[in-house]
Amino acid sequence: MGTLSRVAGLMALGTVAALTGIQFVSAQRTNPPSRDPLVAPPQIERILRRACYDCHSNETRWPWYSHIAPISWLVVHDVTVARQEVNFSEWGSYYSATRRHKLQWIGRILHEGKMPPWEYRLLHPVARLNPSDKSALEEWIASTLAVSSPEQSQP
Ligand code: HEC
Repeated sequence: MGTLSRVAGLMALGTVAALTGIQFVSAQRTNPPSRDPLVAPPQIERILRRACYDCHSNETRWPWYSHIAPISWLVVHDVTVARQEVNFSEWGSYYSATRRHKLQWIGRILHEGKMPPWEYRLLHPVARLNPSDKSALEEWIASTLAVSSPEQSQP
């Protein structure tokens, strides 16, 4: 065996050892209680649950790859950030001005096609939004914004 292949072998062994080692550094996959969940028409709720709830709610269905480090760290980080931005499990506890703001935000990312993120769409084809899902969501956003004023407690 040449020196080069011995070095390559050691490097491979080192990689396997490192990947095994980091499995013991666990990521916190938490699903806290849904204290004040969104109330929306059933069709809207179905779409959001399918496409957004894994990251933007406390009802994450943690996928298999979220159990394998280092991917697990990335997934947990994404969900933590996503919940901070928009959390449908706490939707009712937002100030109504905040809710309006977030609705407008959602409208914008739908328009831009930014959400769900492409790598998630790749692994979860059912989460993709088709044109009729999008128009249903857009209509819901427009009608919710139209009936609510910033002073009202519920849009
Ligand atoms: C795989 C996880 C994941 C899914 C699924 C997902 N998001 Fe996100 N979302 C994120 C992350 C992470 C951020 C914050 C970082 C960023 O903006 O890229 C975010 C940010 C946002 C923001 C904040 C605006 C912005 O531009 O940062 C909105 C609004 C949003 N998402 C809406 C949605 C909607 C609506 C869906 C479903 C149609 C959805 N997301 C699906 C992970 C996700």
